[in-house]
Amino acid sequence: MSAAAGQTWDADAYARNGRFVADLAVDLVGWLAPQAGERILDLGCGDGALTEKLIEQGAQVVGADASPELVAAARARGVDARVIDGQQLGFDAGFDAVFSNAALHWMKRDPDAVLAGVARALKAGGRFVAEMGGAGNVAAIRGALHEVLAARGHDAAAADPWFFPTLADYRRRLEAAGFTVTAIESFARPTLLPGDIGGWLRTFAQAFLAIVPEAERDAVIAEVQDALHTRLANQAGQWTADYVRLRFVALKTPRQ
Ligand code: BEZ
Repeated sequence: MSAAAGQTWDADAYARNGRFVADLAVDLVGWLAPQAGERILDLGCGDGALTEKLIEQGAQVVGADASPELVAAARARGVDARVIDGQQLGFDAGFDAVFSNAALHWMKRDPDAVLAGVARALKAGGRFVAEMGGAGNVAAIRGALHEVLAARGHDAAAADPWFFPTLADYRRRLEAAGFTVTAIESFARPTLLPGDIGGWLRTFAQAFLAIVPEAERDAVIAEVQDALHTRLANQAGQWTADYVRLRFVALKTPRQ
């Protein structure tokens, strides 16, 4: 995943509150089916937990992420990770595949520039295999953030860092960027969180919290938590986030 405006990743907090992101995407590696010796770009490699799985299968992997903190954590695992904005990829036709998990939705400013950069990075016929948040992802959480912030006089829309496209929208963008889509699906993945929603918000919703004075942030988190409690927490106090995934395989269409 990449850094977005207002978001700074803390690798230890991410390991505590976000490890499930890589754990739940292990089958996406099956979609990629990395082969020994293939050159693969892991776009939004985060702390490298999933990148390691590609390396274990013998691929030569470059990790790219906009967060210096997460790139440092990935390097500590031995990943060849580099600080790169996914909207400004500078690779040229060297990769057999580009892989991305839970990162593309952070690249909201220019999603088409991301796809153009991925297409440039791939060899002809190369594959782009990715999973991201799809339309409706964390809708309850996002809605509560917007409501709580609006009630306090803040414009959450301007701060909202997430891009969750519909399947049809993203397919159109992939095709416009020169890909042939061979598989694409969107599905709900209600996800049990390792802690409460407060930990999730502090880890993943910093861009929203950043628009309120620091002294008000705990109160905002408490209000969002109250607003969501009946929908997302069970009797035992366990929280489930309303994730929706969009995943696809797209091939760089060879030029005629
Ligand atoms: C996601 O992986 O879908 C996601 C994670 C954090 C914030 C928003 C979405």
